Amino acid sequence: MKIYIETYGCQMNKYDSGMIRSMLVSAGHSLTSDLTEAEVVMVNTCTVRDRAEQRALGRLRHLRGLIDKNAALGVIGCVAQRIGEKLLSEVRGLDFVVGTDRYALIPDIIKEIDHGVRRVDTLQDSGENYAVRPDPITASLSDFVSVMRGCNNYCSYCIVPYVRGRERSVPHEAVLAEVEALVRLGMRDVTLLGQNVNSYRDGPTTFAQLLGIINNVPGLERIRFATSHPKDLSPELIDAIAHLDKVCEHVHLPVQSGSNSILRRMNRSYTREDYVALVGSIRERIPGVAVTTDVIMGFPGETEEDCDATLSLMNEIRFDSAFMFRYSVREGTSAAAFDDDVPEAMKIERLKTAIELQKRITTTINQGLIGTVVEVLADGPSERDASRTFGKARSGKTVVFESPDDCAGKLVSVRVTDTSAWTLHGKTESP
Ligand code: SAH
Ligand code: SF4
Ligand code: F3S
Repeated sequence: MKIYIETYGCQMNKYDSGMIRSMLVSAGHSLTSDLTEAEVVMVNTCTVRDRAEQRALGRLRHLRGLIDKNAALGVIGCVAQRIGEKLLSEVRGLDFVVGTDRYALIPDIIKEIDHGVRRVDTLQDSGENYAVRPDPITASLSDFVSVMRGCNNYCSYCIVPYVRGRERSVPHEAVLAEVEALVRLGMRDVTLLGQNVNSYRDGPTTFAQLLGIINNVPGLERIRFATSHPKDLSPELIDAIAHLDKVCEHVHLPVQSGSNSILRRMNRSYTREDYVALVGSIRERIPGVAVTTDVIMGFPGETEEDCDATLSLMNEIRFDSAFMFRYSVREGTSAAAFDDDVPEAMKIERLKTAIELQKRITTTINQGLIGTVVEVLADGPSERDASRTFGKARSGKTVVFESPDDCAGKLVSVRVTDTSAWTLHGKTESP
């Protein structure tokens, strides 16, 4: 059958969609990017904030009207896991609902649909880490490899532990085999993924040791990883980032808030002072490191002082960039019992203030890079201007640059000549 998959949410979902595509191709199906010819349409969904869930539901309803009336429509991912069977009554004409631990069944489920069966399977199985993975079917310069699934942290606002289940790590041999297979297909830059990637543990093998193993893969140029929780960012891991040549000097380290009372009620298990000290030691031991973060504005009970504490932390740390969100209550999480008392307009206002502040900080940091030379892994023509090339610096920053010849797939030295808010601009240095 011809299968179409649409993906929302985080890198985990993107990775999972790739894995499902590979499974389906191995089972004899083909993939299509044309909705009208698809015989099975699947939406891989995100529920981290209410808006993401509403978008998924809206998209599913819309798709039912767009696709062939005989085509099957399915929902997978975190909304499927959260709502389960009730989705059948929320979205008319839905044929299947498959949760995050049941993707290995999708080829069978599709066969049954061929025979008119509707299927819901959202069983949670904390033993499932899809360690036996089919060969990847698409090759790209930069790709993801999931090294652990699930989360045990239960930050009070977060739905992820409920829809992704308990933490489990992929054996390091399987991670290595997958990275090697992707390198054979052309990957040069890998991002190792986990909701809480630095709590990776395979027997005695720690995440820092896993980085050491992957660092030895010939042909691989760069290693990144996401996401790190401050409580698990060990001195051993900082040393590994500092000393392993392929591991990029970039740490994404969500802080969420700069106020100790909010951090406590978020169940983040560190204080502002712990966080500041941690970033201090990262910066001391990894010269030139980029530190990025996630911030939530308008958490229940957030006062003017708490909000100011977050803004002052952003000023103190000076993150290279930040993803910023306004708090969204998620049913079933422990924060859902708190009074969601920051009015929506105030949440929006505080978020706007944070975004503007971060934009100024990012711009100033990037302007400081003008005149320096950065190593860029050239990707392809820039979307805005096809005569230029875009790629990523080791810091993770996007660089758009002029280059004399086709350098796609290569590491090039780019002298930074200018910056816009989030992007560096430059020219390749002649070798
Ligand atoms: N495991 C990762 C990613 C979790 S989701 C981590 O721990 O960082 C990505 C981000 O979404 C979180 O870091 C947080 O900033 C934000 N987020 C999670 N739940 C949220 C909620 N209920 N409302 C607003 N933002 C939320
Ligand atoms: Fe959610 Fe916290 Fe786990 Fe991240 S660490 S996925 S924010 S519970
Ligand atoms: Fe969203 Fe699920 Fe990722 S809720 S952020 S797609 S783990």
